[in-house]
Amino acid sequence: MKESVLIIDFGSQVTKLIARRIRELGVFSKIIPYDKVSKKTINQKNIKGVIFSGGPKSVNERNSPRILPFIYDSNIPILGICYGLQLISKNFGGIISPSDDREFGKTNLFSKKNSPLIDGVVDLKKKHQVWMSHADKVERIPNGFETIASTENCQYAIIQNLKKQIFGVQFHPEVVHTKGGKKILENFVKKICLCKKEWSMKNFKIEILKEIKKKVGKNKVICGLSGGVDSTVTAVLINKAIGKRLICVFVDTGFMRKNERELIESLFKKNFDIKLKVINASQIFFNKLKGQKDPEKKRKIIGREFIKIFERFALNQIDIKYLAQGTLYPDVIESISKVGKSFVTIKSHHNVGGLPKKMKLKLLEPLKELFKDEVRILGKELNIPDSFNKRHPFPGPGLAIRLLGEIDKKSIGILREADDIFIKMIKKEGLYDKIWQAFCVLLPVNTVGVMGDNRTYEKICVLRAVTSIDGMTAESYKFKTNFLEKCANEIINNVPGINRVCYDYTSKPPGTIEFE
Ligand code: XMP
Repeated sequence: MKESVLIIDFGSQVTKLIARRIRELGVFSKIIPYDKVSKKTINQKNIKGVIFSGGPKSVNERNSPRILPFIYDSNIPILGICYGLQLISKNFGGIISPSDDREFGKTNLFSKKNSPLIDGVVDLKKKHQVWMSHADKVERIPNGFETIASTENCQYAIIQNLKKQIFGVQFHPEVVHTKGGKKILENFVKKICLCKKEWSMKNFKIEILKEIKKKVGKNKVICGLSGGVDSTVTAVLINKAIGKRLICVFVDTGFMRKNERELIESLFKKNFDIKLKVINASQIFFNKLKGQKDPEKKRKIIGREFIKIFERFALNQIDIKYLAQGTLYPDVIESISKVGKSFVTIKSHHNVGGLPKKMKLKLLEPLKELFKDEVRILGKELNIPDSFNKRHPFPGPGLAIRLLGEIDKKSIGILREADDIFIKMIKKEGLYDKIWQAFCVLLPVNTVGVMGDNRTYEKICVLRAVTSIDGMTAESYKFKTNFLEKCANEIINNVPGINRVCYDYTSKPPGTIEFE
């Protein structure tokens, strides 16, 4: 069993980043919500360390997330981050109170004492930039703990109890704005938890292939292909494990990008010996979405119909027991993460949120422990051509969540054409691989324009292009203005139905990548 670091989630927006950083160090890490932690989870032999994430609550609130004290007796090293540090302090008798000077953003740290946690972190003796986000602070540390570093407003910015191997940091080492943050996490994972560097995509591939074979046995698997990288990697992986017992189904929802179907067919024919069935279901999806404007409802309807179509297809086949999906780790975490009653659903990702509670098929989700960029590395391991592996992500609900509000066939057609032009121009400019994701969005409002001598009253197309590492945060891509002008002209001149083009400069957060 691979050595792991367990990350206990108390609801921080950046918990996923902790997991990513640990994996970047070559050590497997897993996130678990605070209320799902049992003695059994902690006592598993492969758990070498535990990290408490930050969280939005105050440890002094009555119903704030807690963890039972058995965890402190397990002899496993613990690192508490922000809320995690405060929880540890409170547990051992420290005092936490609201801070007069709430700190959000960058601040400077000064070290006072050596610790294995900050070993080799340069410049700690001088001003050292860290990223804080807290309203409460530790007023008094518990007996047995000592201060390692402070900031101007926060005396106990790093604390430790070496004997118990318990550490706490008030700032966030997982975010890039904390200088040396990765080194602090590395010290914890390698020097304190003594984890070995075992996590690699090669090892993952070997393990997951064994797992799929064992789980599926002699049964058959049906896999939904969306045209995106995740479902394609899923299919190729399962095909490698069980060969012809995998049947892939490409459901044409009517919300695909231009030539998506042909591209998938040729990829599978040319490169892989995989059975592929194409089902044209666009009429069903258009009918079901009629009159629906609400993004969540649209997502849920599409997810539900997908499953129904798969189940109907599977019923006519013998021995199909599993439905394979390209669900990724961020989707899984998003769907299980909850902190008391403050749990907020931003979006129901259709491969998780749209599934009905009772399903005839069992789910097979071999990528559910991976982040997006890890999937691409796996794709390379599986010899999926770069032309496909490096394609920009495409959401399951497709163009239906990029045509805002109510769906109609004509507008989807308009959006598809505009999108194709924008992507082709980006490729021609040599920018495609520099951008995480680019696409067009069609707004459900008309504006007045003039073409030739005529008045036009047509739709607005928004161009969206972002850079990102894993889709969890994103920045708008800064194109040169004349390139955007060229795109606007090309789209307006070639796509009837659009008379205005805008560019979206919103980052994530506060925006999201997709508009719905
Ligand atoms: P947001 O819009 O949440 O998107 O910032 C983050 C990334 O996820 C993709 N996305 C989806 N992928 N099913 C998917 O497989 C979905 O329902 C879905 N919704 C969004 C989005 O394109 C971006 O890359």
